[in-house]
Amino acid sequence: MGYSHVYAEAKADPDGFWMKAAEAIDWVTPPSKALFDDNAPLYEWFSDGTLNACWNAVDRHVEAGHGERIAIIHDSPITHSKHEITYSELRDRVASLAGALRAKGVEKGDRVIIYMPMVPEALEAMLACSRLGAIHSVVFGGFAANELAVRIDDCQPKCIIAASCGLEPGRVVHYKPLLDGAIEMADHKPEFCVIFQREQEVAHLEEGRDFDWHGFQYGVEPADCVPVEGNHPQYILYTSGTTGQPKGVIRHTGGHMVALNWTMRNLYDMNPGEVFWAASDVGWVVGHSYICYAPLTFGCTTIVFEGKPVGTPDAGTFWRVIQDHKVKCLFTAPTALRAVKREDPQGALIGDYDIGCLESLFLAGERADPDTIIWAQDKLGVPVVDHWWQTETGWCIAGNPLGIEKLPVKIGSPSVPMPGYDVQILDEGGHPVKDGDLGAIAVKLPLPPGTLPTLWNAEARFRKSYLDHFPGYYETGDAGYKDEDGYLYIMARTDDVINVAGHRLSTGGMEEVLASHPDVAECAVIGVADQLKGQMPMGFLCLNAGTQKSAEDVVAECVKLVREKIGPVAAFKLATVVQRLPKTRSGKILRGTMVNIADGKEYKMPATIDDPAILDEITEALKELGYPK
Ligand code: COA
Ligand code: AMP
Repeated sequence: MGYSHVYAEAKADPDGFWMKAAEAIDWVTPPSKALFDDNAPLYEWFSDGTLNACWNAVDRHVEAGHGERIAIIHDSPITHSKHEITYSELRDRVASLAGALRAKGVEKGDRVIIYMPMVPEALEAMLACSRLGAIHSVVFGGFAANELAVRIDDCQPKCIIAASCGLEPGRVVHYKPLLDGAIEMADHKPEFCVIFQREQEVAHLEEGRDFDWHGFQYGVEPADCVPVEGNHPQYILYTSGTTGQPKGVIRHTGGHMVALNWTMRNLYDMNPGEVFWAASDVGWVVGHSYICYAPLTFGCTTIVFEGKPVGTPDAGTFWRVIQDHKVKCLFTAPTALRAVKREDPQGALIGDYDIGCLESLFLAGERADPDTIIWAQDKLGVPVVDHWWQTETGWCIAGNPLGIEKLPVKIGSPSVPMPGYDVQILDEGGHPVKDGDLGAIAVKLPLPPGTLPTLWNAEARFRKSYLDHFPGYYETGDAGYKDEDGYLYIMARTDDVINVAGHRLSTGGMEEVLASHPDVAECAVIGVADQLKGQMPMGFLCLNAGTQKSAEDVVAECVKLVREKIGPVAAFKLATVVQRLPKTRSGKILRGTMVNIADGKEYKMPATIDDPAILDEITEALKELGYPK
């Protein structure tokens, strides 16, 4: 059965299609139907079934006699270590951790923040929460204490699970002091913290509040899996929106399990027992879905990789990991491949390893540029699949479903919509445009299982951000077009979100930080094209009259401030002082025009511009920074 048939089947009978997919999941009480639309335009899936995500990801494989199968491989070129955990070991470790959390009062529905680097314990913490029906919220390690504090106040965790430290090449990330700082900043205080002490840096534990990961498990009863409803939130994952206040994307348990499990065979062409590697981080949605839940639920081996594509120790690391662990499918961000390609343009290091086991490479997180795709196709000799998705959807909106049918590749396009996604390109008035015309990309409601039902504690924001603009549709925030064969092309964001090294960041959030600098009167942050990272943030600062400090000093302080408030992941290093910002007559900053100047693109003088001369000043300031490149 080919792609068109499967897609049409899901469209004609969504309930039948997803109920069939749901048979691959273990339910305590099977759902009576798939879609629950009584509260439209808010939709839910499998609401009246009960299940447990940890059971599906771990225990059921042990029960089925696969306890000796490797569940997790930890490969850390930074600590020069490799470690394997079988499914039965994983079950025991997770049950014990869950038991200890329960003994301290963590129950179904409680929130637990997880702030950990790429160690298997991060997955164990996620799974232990799922085992209890507690709702985890993983925070990426590259965020600063302030970002962690914002998330603590928003989801109000009973407990925070953290590691003592993370390891970046040449630098120890001091998680524990960051955690302490965040708790101090936040209004909400967790009842207790659990700290996984790494030998590279042992952290101070606060008497009475902090417990040692191993010590607090002593003597506790392991916990069994707690059945939860299909619409019980399994996790909250914060992602960047247009302001500094991140959006708490909720994932419901039933649809999450069903959809992810479906993708493993149909999209990634995997079989249980094979090795899947998503070279991302558990702090991102790719990590949630494809380092943790999907490969484990499907019974694959997953790799937790603590390293970088280059420099740990070299641009051959990816190929070494593929060889050593017999990886069948690699999933990474184009930026990682660009980093490899820059250091090893001929792909000479690939020849040092036997990567015959690799059957496909999937790319996501940002637009995959044709050069990178062609390089990877040439050097690796396997299908290279660009696929498009978002934190909100949790899985792929458009891709090339290798497990169903390998469709012809069109470079520059992430191919076609996955079953359940009715993707339309709309004009400003919400009308579908002709093939080939650019417009806002929207998905006709309902979205398929596994996608966000709403935002944590922010239904009004959910409606405003995603549903109100185009009634009856989910607004993706991306712009692009569809060709005559139904292939999608994702061209740009329609909001203030930028994508730096596959990391989603808010320029609005950075502007809020810059505006808090005492010498900054006004500012704008844009994303400029970058050969390695796709985009880089660039700040324009207008200073208060009478400021005593030099422009260089203010710029340096602003760079430091963004790192302190948002974190190193913002990669905010470029900023300049200007006299004025270009604006429309109604006062809207012309960020798009500034981007075009920085990227050296042709642009039309905006008809509504207040003072065209300001664009010359901006052009000069950019020239001094070396832009356009
Ligand atoms: N914890 C703490 N700090 C982190 C971090 C983490 N988990 N991840 C990144 N950082 C820091 C980096 O150390 C760097 O700090 P620095 O300014 O002191 O050098 C900063 O955040 C920016 O990181 P990044 O943009 O990732 O750049 P990099 O120079 O470290 O690495 C690449 C460049 C291309 C190798 C890297 O970005 C990469 O591998 N990207 C892949 C992205 C990815 O997998 N995205 C997930 C979506 S699928
Ligand atoms: P995130 O929520 O961090 O996964 O980021 C989602 C955003 O990244 C999308 O809305 C797109 O802007 C961009 N993105 C992700 N994958 C792709 C892709 N394959 N092609 C183009 N853009 C992508």
